[in-house]
Amino acid sequence: MIAASDPAGRPPAGIERARRFLAEADGVLVLTGAGISADSGVPTFRGEGGLWRQHRPEELATPQAFARDPRLVWEWYEWRRRLVADCDPNSAHVALARWQARGAGVRIVTQNVDGLHGRAASDTGVASGPELLLELHGSLSRTRCTSCDARRERRDPIDTTSAATLPHCAGAGDCRGLLRPDVVWFGESLDPAVIGAAFGWAETADVCLVVGTSAVVQPAASLAAVTREAGGALVEVNPEPTPLTWRAAVSIRGGAADVVPRIVPGDQPSATSR
Ligand code: OAD
Repeated sequence: MIAASDPAGRPPAGIERARRFLAEADGVLVLTGAGISADSGVPTFRGEGGLWRQHRPEELATPQAFARDPRLVWEWYEWRRRLVADCDPNSAHVALARWQARGAGVRIVTQNVDGLHGRAASDTGVASGPELLLELHGSLSRTRCTSCDARRERRDPIDTTSAATLPHCAGAGDCRGLLRPDVVWFGESLDPAVIGAAFGWAETADVCLVVGTSAVVQPAASLAAVTREAGGALVEVNPEPTPLTWRAAVSIRGGAADVVPRIVPGDQPSATSR
């Protein structure tokens, strides 16, 4: 385990080592969690001030909760949608997007639903699609019809004042079904095509760069183990140790916005920006 900085302010040894691993890799899988967006102002789930410290997931993030009280669930998701709309990608998202733009065989799998990787990519001029970015747990900026399953982009505010004002399906079939956030809730399975593609990337990556995840939620956390078992190396960036730390070739104790731009090959000029 290597510390990102020491009290004397010396340049951290782990940064150089991590950069070498990343520079020498032909394929890199970047696995991200809530911590990468913490420096953008998006709350994490399990840390201090985390969402699951203040709210009970079973009341807000299960199909049963939505069936019981869709207005309450939408109210909470609308709060998160507005919060994220006011946040910007930070230097970690941007460094990763620029790295992808350089065509370096870098693919991102995120557990985040905040859309900040996609926004960083479009700000950088990368046409990010499912060949570069997989959002395992869905997206706050999409809705899904509970009746016909149609998924649609939806970024404008949702009126949650009463059950009657909640959004309903008005697509091609116009089925009028109640719309829900297109996110994966507790007790639900991930989209098999998305998780299947993610495992395929994990098997072929030389390095899995794990940023800002507590690595306690499956199957996401096992992606890093798959790369490791296939002979690849793990590089971790997190202020705290995680269950993956002991398996990592380099584990840097630091925040994503500070560390990631320093270790992404070719991105050092932006290393001091937020
Ligand atoms: P967690 O809240 O479990 O973990 C956040 C991680 O980020 C912790 O390990 C922190 O130490 C780390 N962290 C905090 N600040 C950081 C910073 N500035 N830079 C880097 N790391 C930092 O979030 P996830 O691991 O993403 O699932 O949680 C996984 C899943 O659990 C989420 O996708 C969500 C949740 O239940 C669903 O909603 C389906």
